[in-house]
Amino acid sequence: MKKNILTLVLLSSLSASVFAHQAGDFLIRGGLTNVNPDNGKSAILLADTDSTMTLTVDDNTQLGLNFVYFYNNNLAIEVLAATPFTHDVYIQDKNSVLGVDGAKLGKVSQLPPTVSVLYYFNTDSAFKPYVGAGLNYTIFFNEKFSDAPKNLGLSDLSLDGSFGYAVQIGTDYEINKKWSINASARYIDIDTDATFSVGGEKIGKASISVDPMVYSLMIGYKF
Ligand code: NI
Repeated sequence: MKKNILTLVLLSSLSASVFAHQAGDFLIRGGLTNVNPDNGKSAILLADTDSTMTLTVDDNTQLGLNFVYFYNNNLAIEVLAATPFTHDVYIQDKNSVLGVDGAKLGKVSQLPPTVSVLYYFNTDSAFKPYVGAGLNYTIFFNEKFSDAPKNLGLSDLSLDGSFGYAVQIGTDYEINKKWSINASARYIDIDTDATFSVGGEKIGKASISVDPMVYSLMIGYKF
């Protein structure tokens, strides 16, 4: 019995190694991608003075897509795309400067296209783990204050684009020659300056380290 199981394991690992990546292979992955910003608090400045208020950005999950092109069995280039992420932004106002502690400040949408070079390890099994490093550009749009902050005279929220590095670990698990399951975790360095107006004057500022962990769970199909 034990021998049979061993044979089965050997056979399955042998057949899996048949699915080694070839130069020119093209893999598309689709699934869920969660962007989970650093929960550190970003100081809010009013007229270049620390207001003692801070803000935090919450997480969001969207449909993520990966396009992976294999240069050879070990090296690939990957592009991460996704439907726009929308994050709620919360304000901490412990000293009651505006009396809005814990309130939703507003929301912001972003797209974080990322290009990475992946290095796949040789495993001779259906598991194809890899590490990756690359570059990210994050575009922010639809920046909006919630009704309460608007009533306090806050307007014209705007967040700068961010250019930074990205690193990741992940693995494909090959079900057969075509289909696979993928899980990955990446860190993206995203920093942005937010500006806004108070009572019509552009005196509000916050430097936000979004620096998210990005988790994906996907299904892959190889062409
Ligand atoms: Ni950063």
